[in-house]
Amino acid sequence: MNQDGLKAAVARAALAYVQPGSVVGVGTGSTVDHFIDALATMQDRIEGAVSSSLASTRRLRGHGIPVYDPSTVESLPVYIDGADEIDLRGCMIKGGGAALTREKIVADLAERFICIADESKHVATLGTFPLPVEVIAMAVAQVTRRFAALGGTAVLRSGVTTDNGHPLLDVHGLAIADPQAMELEINQWPGVVTVGIFARHRAQVCLLGTVTGVQTLVF
Ligand code: A5P
Repeated sequence: MNQDGLKAAVARAALAYVQPGSVVGVGTGSTVDHFIDALATMQDRIEGAVSSSLASTRRLRGHGIPVYDPSTVESLPVYIDGADEIDLRGCMIKGGGAALTREKIVADLAERFICIADESKHVATLGTFPLPVEVIAMAVAQVTRRFAALGGTAVLRSGVTTDNGHPLLDVHGLAIADPQAMELEINQWPGVVTVGIFARHRAQVCLLGTVTGVQTLVF
């Protein structure tokens, strides 16, 4: 099975975590696109969704699934999203699709984060995938220098602004041995909107697509 087939398999497996009658937290990306298509097959059994990006909102609405504003929802039973990397404790790098800020906001509403990913995303230590960081434009140079002091090379993602209108840095060369500490540290830097380390909001479950089937990792 190719990578897209693995993504489709974990997306279908995630339907088992959707509670009937609930509002579902929905992430962003190519794996989540498969999940949204699968969710459409049970749309008469859910109330609707809260979405983490304009792209996912369009796809959900295209299937006729109601999308609620996050401010109208106090909590969600589950948030289902992909990852760029996930480590052995469920900490993740996210933001490859530029949706990290809204993803963290919706994940924060949820009781459980269910990560859906193919096996190429499973790593011992985060950091091979360049770390996405959404920043206020006037702080780009300043934040870039701070990453250099940590041994990282921050590259402005060309031609991309987030759904919130901000630029993104992709930081190469970081070995993120302590995701919680690094997330906390970078969050303190003036001008940082969101760092793509999801340690505080790590996954409780990962459905990992492998050539031998979908593995369920519980953290
Ligand atoms: C979106 O900003 C990201 O956090 C995605 O969740 C992540 O990039 C995974 O995307 P794919 O499912 O397309 O690999």
